[in-house]
Amino acid sequence: MTKIGVFFGTTTGKTEGIADLIVDELDGLAVVCKDISKTQLEELTQYDVLILGCPTWDIGQLQSDWGAIYDDLDKLDFSGKKVAYFGTGDQYGYADNFMDAIGILEEKISSRGGQTIGYWSTEGYEFNQSRAVRNGKFVGLAIDEDNQPEKTEERVKRWTAQLKQELGL
Ligand SMILES: Cc1cc2nc3c(=O)[nH]c(=O)nc-3n(C[C@H](O)[C@H](O)[C@H](O)COP(=O)(O)O)c2cc1C
Repeated sequence: MTKIGVFFGTTTGKTEGIADLIVDELDGLAVVCKDISKTQLEELTQYDVLILGCPTWDIGQLQSDWGAIYDDLDKLDFSGKKVAYFGTGDQYGYADNFMDAIGILEEKISSRGGQTIGYWSTEGYEFNQSRAVRNGKFVGLAIDEDNQPEKTEERVKRWTAQLKQELGL
């Protein structure tokens, strides 16, 4: 069975809440879900599929627990891994840096061999700039609990269905 690891960082709990919703949608699959601050780095390479969650903090920065291990990601080889990203952010408060963190994380893990899955349309969001946009799409699921909480459940459902389809699960 495909082993799926969901790893999230969170400062005020919102991204953990999204991780829980994602795990619920993956019911029946072999899923482990952990806070990145309580994870040995090497564990990240023990899964076939990674689903990584990181909010953007401090104007375009990684959440601090991801920030603490960021340089050490250079020690890992993600070749052969399929990697999906989800982030939370505030598109109105931080319109020039919306979702930057998942763009930063995706860039690093792709440079270490990870294959990105789960690209997501920017339609339905209002922002100026984001490091998470590549070729007109977000590199992963964008959630805005600060301004659009009513859209969260449906976005998570659609994205996880998309992931299952991309993975043939
Ligand atoms: C001081 C501060 C800085 C922030 N910077 C950004 C940012 O640059 N880009 C963004 O999209 N959201 C930004 N946010 C919004 C958070 O990313 C958002 O509230 C997120 O859901 C928090 O996730 P967490 O509860 O999992 O820590 C910021 C929030 C605060 C309070």
